[in-house]
Amino acid sequence: MDSGKVHVMDHPLVAHKLSIMRDKNTSVKDFRELVSEIGMFIAYEATRDLPLTTRTIETPICEAEVPTLDGKKLAVVPILRAGLGLVDGVLRMVPAARVGHIGMFRDEETLEPHTYFCKMPKDIAEREVLIVDPMLATGGSAAAAIDEMKKRGCKQIKLLVLVAAPEGIACIRKAHPDVDIYAGAVDKCLNENGYIVPGLGDAGDRIFGTK
Ligand code: PRP
Ligand code: URA
Repeated sequence: MDSGKVHVMDHPLVAHKLSIMRDKNTSVKDFRELVSEIGMFIAYEATRDLPLTTRTIETPICEAEVPTLDGKKLAVVPILRAGLGLVDGVLRMVPAARVGHIGMFRDEETLEPHTYFCKMPKDIAEREVLIVDPMLATGGSAAAAIDEMKKRGCKQIKLLVLVAAPEGIACIRKAHPDVDIYAGAVDKCLNENGYIVPGLGDAGDRIFGTK
């Protein structure tokens, strides 16, 4: 089996934008816009290996053989709810991608993830899947979402997150060693409530203004 990699964004714009998001005084509006912007950067990195072919066109100067995407089919799959915040940024990079939704919530006491919704494009098994969620904390939600996608026959899966904890990365490496992880940053650890430190706080609440 292929061994997946962890790709951590190494870019001053991402670092700067994440720092604004970490500030507890950042408004819901700004937080939501920044999730989307960083989603675009992470999608840019996660699509670096898309296959190219060539086609012949006429430039104003001459005939030329130019690179063009080889029509690889993609699907973006946000983990509800907070993953929704990343969808439009990713779609700005890959506008033809289909969107599947998977609803996961964590039991607040056990931190165990539960699937409450799953609606995928019909041909999902033929698509490369980009699972998106701002937070990879214990890794339980993402690992369960990857399980669901594999159950539906998906073979090429990438996980895109804004902030990852080392514990979450270790969980995915163990449960799904074939899945590449793309992270805006890797933080220090989890606290006793399963929140990433220093982290962003509750990403869903901050995107949707529910607290
Ligand atoms: C958050 C986050 C992830 C999950 C990460 O969602 O968006 O899905 O927690 O934690 P884990 O790695 O320990 O599983 P949450 O369960 O708070 O739901 P929400 O998106 O509806 O806010
Ligand atoms: N979910 C969040 O929204 N934030 C965390 O830090 C951990 C899980």
